[in-house]
Amino acid sequence: MNQPVMQGLDLNIPGHVRNAKLIAWVADMTALCKPDSVYWCDGSEAEYQRLCQQLVEAGTFKRLNETRRPNSFLACSDPSDVARVEDRTFICSAKKENAGPTNNWMEPGEMRATLLPLFDGCMKGRTMYVVPFSMGPLGSRIAHIGVELTDSAYVAVNQKIMTRMGKAVFDLLGTDGNFVPCMHTVGAPLAAGQTDVKWPCNKTKYIVHYPETREIWSYGSGYGGNALLGKKCFALRIASNMGRDQGWLAEHMLILGVTNPQGKKYHVAAAFPSACGKTNFSMLVPPASFEGWKVTTIGDDIAWIKPHADGKMYAINPEAGYFGVAPGTNYHTNPNCMASLDKDVIFTNVALTDDGDVWWEGMEKDTGAMPAHLIDWQGKDWTPEIARQTGAKAAHPNSRFTVAATNNPALDPQWDDPDGVAIDAFIFGGRRSTTVPLVTEARTWMEGVYMAATMGSETTAAATGQMGVVRRDPFAMLPFCGYNMSDYFQHWLDMEHKLKSLGHAVPKIFCVNWFRKDEAGKFVWPGYGDNMRVLKWMIDRIEGKTKGQETIFGIAPQYAEINWTGLDFSTQQFQTVTHIDKGAWTEELKLHTTHFEQLAYHLPKQLNETKASIERKLEA
Ligand code: OXD
Ligand code: MN
Repeated sequence: MNQPVMQGLDLNIPGHVRNAKLIAWVADMTALCKPDSVYWCDGSEAEYQRLCQQLVEAGTFKRLNETRRPNSFLACSDPSDVARVEDRTFICSAKKENAGPTNNWMEPGEMRATLLPLFDGCMKGRTMYVVPFSMGPLGSRIAHIGVELTDSAYVAVNQKIMTRMGKAVFDLLGTDGNFVPCMHTVGAPLAAGQTDVKWPCNKTKYIVHYPETREIWSYGSGYGGNALLGKKCFALRIASNMGRDQGWLAEHMLILGVTNPQGKKYHVAAAFPSACGKTNFSMLVPPASFEGWKVTTIGDDIAWIKPHADGKMYAINPEAGYFGVAPGTNYHTNPNCMASLDKDVIFTNVALTDDGDVWWEGMEKDTGAMPAHLIDWQGKDWTPEIARQTGAKAAHPNSRFTVAATNNPALDPQWDDPDGVAIDAFIFGGRRSTTVPLVTEARTWMEGVYMAATMGSETTAAATGQMGVVRRDPFAMLPFCGYNMSDYFQHWLDMEHKLKSLGHAVPKIFCVNWFRKDEAGKFVWPGYGDNMRVLKWMIDRIEGKTKGQETIFGIAPQYAEINWTGLDFSTQQFQTVTHIDKGAWTEELKLHTTHFEQLAYHLPKQLNETKASIERKLEA
């Protein structure tokens, strides 16, 4: 193979890289971004260790205490680069209508003209890493390949944990295999002799998707979903487009296995908006009274689900690791997660203890006390007294851990199965202090799609300044659906016909809400492991064991149908979390009307018909 040389720069193409489209693209991007060198990642452990050491020497990583937290690192980002930037995220479809009202849009030509000057020379003084990755088990019919070009070693090492990354992917690509090109730069070129900062980034940020050509271009941020492009950008925004065109689903869903004491196993996929305890639910530990029951994790955030000729829907977790929110995680909320974090972790923006370990808000529940002194995520001294006086958080509220799925003690044996697991039920859950009951089962696929299309979360004062305003987050996909939301609803409705034509019953759909509050403003449902009680009721429904009771919003459990052993939960409390209040629902349906008006373009008419039928039931 000829080795192209760009303006005197050797592309260093390894002999095992034979994909013509990939080589041409790397050559083009090298010419555009003008890195000092190009490095092709092989995904080996030795490479991971070398890059981590390099990040330690650059000051980006701090190596944690080897005894307390072996093989683990802490990175603290620039304070301006701490989260996904939804207002800087664009879906640049050819037509604005195809991005729809829930996405930022710019005409693709105009966006390319905006980005080209920004990318021109953006990697000067840096190495461009070529990061090949498979989303999903290597070679699975449900998986797809991406290649990320990035000037961030932090991204390369995170991608090693978050995806199946390395040489095997080049082998799979062969000479003409297809991949999604993912361009990423922190947007901070270095002049000759200029010393680098610990967390390079740029005030200007663009997270751009071209759905028709299946490309991602990300500029200016090194953080999370802005930079680890396999996750939200590829596995949701681009993949939702692929799924629509090819007849499958890319969903913001965890996947878990539930095995009953007789050894029968079910699989459920559950969508919750960001920050609604998804990781906790995906690693749930059943209460002691559920002897013989087992819950196992297949995925914590994203599911790719393809219908099969047998009429069932098979799901894989396209990711290989967890990029989870640290604060609030402790041995009470998520013991499996805490055990996962014992070693081999990259922490970002948590606090550092005096003995070289990590700490975040919520850990005091395990130890019974706040630490006397920490270095907070911004490198400042932190003490409980300072926190009391200033409200300073030791860990940023969106601080994260990156850890391999294989660290999870509750990992499902089928988590890496190329065939995926057959889904028996979908769960949709928002965060609502009133109105939406603890759990109901949709009577039909249509009713389930309605529940998912109207789900929402109440904003907290911290986010918006207003308490209790409902942000609709259909299917928990508001920031992640890469095309017009109403067309996405239609895609879900079409899926029912597709599955039925294959001759199999469609999975059941449930709607849950763990977050109802009482008059004193306190959560009533204990949540966490006790969510098993609701899961068990769902499985009883799948097995046809319980009757439930009809409500205007699906079938709800009767009090006696839930296993209460080991939990003191009165009929009165049950009433508080399940009651359907006529007045509240009349107001709620008005909000559904407004929501549907905003999505009027291509909105499937069945959604308004379903709303009318709920209204009729409410009036009856
Ligand atoms: C996530 C999110 O980080 O949904 O998973 O924001
Ligand atoms: Mn998520």
